[in-house]
Amino acid sequence: MADQYAQSGEDKRPAEIPAIRWEEPPEGPVLVLLDQTRLPAEEVELVCTDASALVEAIRSLAVRGAPLLGIAGAYGVALAAARGFDVDDAANALAGARPTAVNLSVGVRRARAAYRAELAEGGDPAQGARAALAAARQLHREDAEASVRMAGHGLALLDELLPGGGHRVLTHCNTGALVSGGEGTAFAVALAAHRVGRLRRLWVDETRPLLQGARLTAYEAARNGMAYTLLTDNAAGSLFAAGEVDAVLIGADRIAADGSVANKVGSYPLAVLARYHHVPFIVVAPVTTVDLETPDGASIEVEQRPGFEVTEAMAAQAPVTGAGGGIPVAPLGTQAYNPAFDVTPPELVTAIVTEEGVVSPVTADALAELCGRARRGGAGAAL
Ligand code: MRU
Repeated sequence: MADQYAQSGEDKRPAEIPAIRWEEPPEGPVLVLLDQTRLPAEEVELVCTDASALVEAIRSLAVRGAPLLGIAGAYGVALAAARGFDVDDAANALAGARPTAVNLSVGVRRARAAYRAELAEGGDPAQGARAALAAARQLHREDAEASVRMAGHGLALLDELLPGGGHRVLTHCNTGALVSGGEGTAFAVALAAHRVGRLRRLWVDETRPLLQGARLTAYEAARNGMAYTLLTDNAAGSLFAAGEVDAVLIGADRIAADGSVANKVGSYPLAVLARYHHVPFIVVAPVTTVDLETPDGASIEVEQRPGFEVTEAMAAQAPVTGAGGGIPVAPLGTQAYNPAFDVTPPELVTAIVTEEGVVSPVTADALAELCGRARRGGAGAAL
């Protein structure tokens, strides 16, 4: 495909605003989020002073993406504790804010366990709050470290599967620094390939209906000076048919014990296309996204989102309020099918790349072994 259709990112500024940060102004602790509903039009921060504001930010996707949801959930528990709210109530509300990304409940559980352990040892609520905050900070750091290691393993795998470099990688949704304590999951692998001069092109699916690819991945690719091209989701088939895709790299919201992968809706059709065209379909996710308690893909709860996200076009600069308010693109009263995620069966996944290494072929035994190794002392310890 001719490169005149391609856009090379020119904005090489590093991200100035982190996706999430904890602050302690004199009025009391707050959690500050980069409001992702406003990108790329505006870089606006959202300040949460309590867990219910954070729950709303999670539901509206101001903060989103599996690893970041885990970090946010942990900080949310710390915030509730530090502000003197009921920690169990806050933890339950946070863990239930979105159902599919397992990292959210993992993060919440971890901070709540730290809080409870401190109280069980005779600490007062203020000490419990400090313990919860320390747990959140630890998870944040671990996610950043996991990101570096996933990028290393993922790049090595790409080089092995595609000798000669010049990788043309298709990605879906958004998996970069906006979803992570570090540089992300799948996007971090593409970024690593870019930095060593082996990424020829990043194909970015726009990711209907909320455009995480167009609004967020293109924003991150441009900031990093990567050669990227945006396509509508339904153009992917012709791109494969034209032989323009060497590998698909995506993230995950939950990986069941049998290796089924829940990720942004539209991932499964890419896996089918990849199999038909003999292209590797690679999932990049931290061990915290593997959920051995969910036996298989059919047991994964897929979040259903409001129909107006499909029947109306939302302007990127307008905050998603949950009440519609966009420009109608379908007759009034049209019903919409709007699952946020789909599930790809393990037989369509070439490899799962984690910070602990690569699982390929994807089997229940290999995943169980990986999680056991992580819990015995790797990055997933203490989950
Ligand atoms: O609905 P979102 O925007 O939270 O969905 C995010 C995704 O599907 C990502 O691909 C997934 O969380 C993996 S991010 C590392």
